[in-house]
Amino acid sequence: MTSQIIDGKKVAKLTRDQIREDVENWVSQGNRAPFLQVLQIGTDPASSTYIRAKTRACADVGIETGTKHLPDTMSAKDLKHEIHKINTDDSVDGILVQLPLPSHLSSHDVIESIDYRKDVDGFHPMNVGRLAVDQPTFKSCTPAGILELFKHYSIQVKSKHAVVVGASNIVGSPMAIMLSRENSSGKATTTICHKYTKDITRHTIDADILIVAAGQPGLIKAEMVKEGVVIIDVGINRVADETTEKGYKLVGDCDFEGLREKASWITPVPGGVGPMTVAMLMKNTLLAAKKSIYPD
Ligand code: GUN
Repeated sequence: MTSQIIDGKKVAKLTRDQIREDVENWVSQGNRAPFLQVLQIGTDPASSTYIRAKTRACADVGIETGTKHLPDTMSAKDLKHEIHKINTDDSVDGILVQLPLPSHLSSHDVIESIDYRKDVDGFHPMNVGRLAVDQPTFKSCTPAGILELFKHYSIQVKSKHAVVVGASNIVGSPMAIMLSRENSSGKATTTICHKYTKDITRHTIDADILIVAAGQPGLIKAEMVKEGVVIIDVGINRVADETTEKGYKLVGDCDFEGLREKASWITPVPGGVGPMTVAMLMKNTLLAAKKSIYPD
């Protein structure tokens, strides 16, 4: 079997085209353009790249953005004060604090200080809690984007065994919640593997759908999965490559070439999940502007 490729770049473009139309309608009804405020604490180069991708994509669909650069020495108190000002600014619809934070700052505290009605990342405990009980919420962007890919390619989730490798708050954990809930995008039997899982292959070999968000290049190899599995590779790892201009290339957590022979569907890296994450952020920002999740 040679896999069919899940083209996240293409589906993200279709999604963005739809969002652009929705933003145009919203603005033509006399509303101001949605506004996303991004905060970058420190100068992590990967974070800068992600933020550039997000703000460019927003501009492309008519969502306005501002990026505030704050020093990595900033105290928790000063950062929370900064967030409080944005929380109470009516001209801002969505707030994104790019992670990871410098080690002296607690991401839990910082995320919790964001007004959950502006939490377009879907990381605030209010939004995660509502996700867990199937209430309308801002869904975290990467897992929401993966569900959009399943919908686009008519990949059935219901009654399948979905195995999620990685239990982070950003991807693995909300992904497992979404897959296991009894709603239209869920209904899968769901297993979460993490760094304490004893024999990961015991679980991955039984997966109908395998979602990998571990941040470890080459973690999943062909011999760890069964024929026909659907592979979603969330990893974005920089590995040294002197043949490239930048001196590195991006690879996922899965051995793409090996798995292509076995999987029914597979996402490439780059061009798989990444562009969908950005598209879902824009979708959430428009929902925030419209107050669709939390009406006044
Ligand atoms: N760092 C890695 N992924 C994300 C994301 O989706 N949102 C934020 N805020 N930070 C991230």
